[in-house]
Amino acid sequence: MEVVILPDADEVADLAARTIAAELRRSERPVIGLATGSSPLGIYAALRRIVQSGELSMAGVRGFALDEYVGLPEGHPESYAEVIRREVVEPLGMDPALVRVPDGAADDLEAACADYETAIAQAGGVTVQILGIGGNGHIGFNEPTSSLASRTRIKTLATATREANARFFTEADGASVPTHCLTQGLGTILDAGSLVLVAQGEGKAEAIRQSVEGPVSSLWPASALQLHPRATVIVDEAAASRLELVDYYRETFAAKPDWQLA
Ligand code: GLP
Repeated sequence: MEVVILPDADEVADLAARTIAAELRRSERPVIGLATGSSPLGIYAALRRIVQSGELSMAGVRGFALDEYVGLPEGHPESYAEVIRREVVEPLGMDPALVRVPDGAADDLEAACADYETAIAQAGGVTVQILGIGGNGHIGFNEPTSSLASRTRIKTLATATREANARFFTEADGASVPTHCLTQGLGTILDAGSLVLVAQGEGKAEAIRQSVEGPVSSLWPASALQLHPRATVIVDEAAASRLELVDYYRETFAAKPDWQLA
């Protein structure tokens, strides 16, 4: 696992975006794995600048989101389908027909999960997967104790996750945080060609420590990244504040000036 510690959230977003753009450019069938939450928003803004500079076109790039709430009315502003449309598809000029989000409104949710796995496989798999991390170490909505081999499925959200995400839901929206979701499994995520996880702020420091330097354990789902041969964790100083091997990470990064285009 590559661990990169940068001074602030802007630099985290910038390096993550350049890394992702390089992966997409190199691929003959580029597929971007999309994450929601606040952590990747800077990446999308930085990718937009790269697109505007003419160094990358997202027009033919396919996209698959990690997860979706179950039971939100269609078009609800906090449904991940809407978030992805608003924050990613429109600003980056992606073709909406090429971007999928798990269908949390399906009558048959299990069939929707199976369809999603099939669609990813038919697209040739995800080229590069963007990941944030929850304070409890979740990625996508794979809460602690998720199987390291799990595939896209229905999950119950942890109380801590519902509380953390309550800030996005207002009474005016007419819905509170759902209790269930559909999420790509840890096994699904590990199938991506490369993984780029970003974290900012002290609130993520323990999750980063456990996931990067702790044992591989379903109690800290992001520790599954240790099983992936091309996983990169890009964090700011605050999120790195509980890591032990910081000198090693800094030396490794400093020794590879062209790392982001590797
Ligand atoms: C959300 C998403 C995750 C995200 C995480 C952290 O619930 N399902 O994909 O990584 O929680 O969110 P934030 O980046 O807002 O801290």
